[in-house]
Amino acid sequence: MNKLNHVAIIMDGNGRWANLKEKKRIFGHEKGADTVRSITIHASKLNLPYLTLYAFSTENWKRPKLEVDFLMNLLSKYLKNELKTYLENNVRFNIIGDISKFSSSLQETIMKTVKNTEHCSGLTQTLAVNYGSKDEITRAVNQLIKGGKDKITSADIESALDTKDIPPVDILIRTGGEKRLSNFLLWQCAYSELFFTDTLWPDFSAKEFDNIIEEYRHIKRKFGGI
Ligand code: IPE
Ligand code: IPE
Ligand code: MG
Repeated sequence: MNKLNHVAIIMDGNGRWANLKEKKRIFGHEKGADTVRSITIHASKLNLPYLTLYAFSTENWKRPKLEVDFLMNLLSKYLKNELKTYLENNVRFNIIGDISKFSSSLQETIMKTVKNTEHCSGLTQTLAVNYGSKDEITRAVNQLIKGGKDKITSADIESALDTKDIPPVDILIRTGGEKRLSNFLLWQCAYSELFFTDTLWPDFSAKEFDNIIEEYRHIKRKFGGI
């Protein structure tokens, strides 16, 4: 049976979920935030060490300003409302991505939530916001160059990534039916087991999460060996 340290999820399909209900896309994002809460609580009850959720990509700025603004406000509201949930469930909140592009008040809310949950020793929930793997790797390499490195090892790169304190991804799940990575954790998913489901993120359930974990447990992982 495979050990499980880290599940990462590309939470896709909010907009389509809302459109199917003849509602605006933002309604889907609101429902998606409810799924973030329920899956996080469920993962913490399973004693999963790391859950990483893709919430906003470096490419998502291309969306209409109204939708981008809505997502920023939703993130801020979510973090403020859910501090209680983090603390009650002993969940440590973490962030990856370049948050310097966010408003100073949102940056402050993010950093406060990191600080206020620092002592939590259960699940680490990492939100990937303004995150893109290519951006992350580029920032890491530039940081190493700045530190005076002229020869860079893969361990050096790992220690400069936003995910430096997080183990590699064991299970990558993408909801919403597309089979692509959309610039998410390209380095960290080198040997992940990939799961794609047609379920739209607002409909993703604890039961489906459990089924994926069960399937993962029995996969023969080889890491290049035999
Ligand atoms: C994922 O849902 C959430 C974000 C990217 C913020 P989408 O908004 O991409 O939903 P679809 O893919 O258009 O249905
Ligand atoms: C990936 O979903 C990003 C997030 C889930 C935050 P997208 O909906 O942005 O991806 P593409 O555009 O379909 O590849
Ligand atoms: Mg999408």
